[in-house]
Amino acid sequence: MTWVKIANKNEIKEGNGKEVNINGQRVALFLSNNKYYAIEALCRHQDGSIAPGKIEGEVVECPLHFWHYNIRTGELLDYLEGVKLTTFNVEIRKNEIYLDI
Ligand code: FES
Repeated sequence: MTWVKIANKNEIKEGNGKEVNINGQRVALFLSNNKYYAIEALCRHQDGSIAPGKIEGEVVECPLHFWHYNIRTGELLDYLEGVKLTTFNVEIRKNEIYLDI
């Protein structure tokens, strides 16, 4: 368990995502309803980044072909059963965002 600073709070706006690269690992960070979520960035369909996807509550839509994932659990919500992206714990320390990776 290693906590790594990945961004400052002002780098991500409510209802948006941002992709960060941590030692070659691509992670999508989201802020939705005042809560931060971090999840593996690459869609299992064709490796599109889900970071720029549209967010509604805890659901993000991949911008490429519109697969949906729960950003809290990582679960794919349509098309295939049992597909799950890795999720990461997020901690806010003052104005900084840390990820447990
Ligand atoms: S790459 Fe995400 S739906 Fe196709």
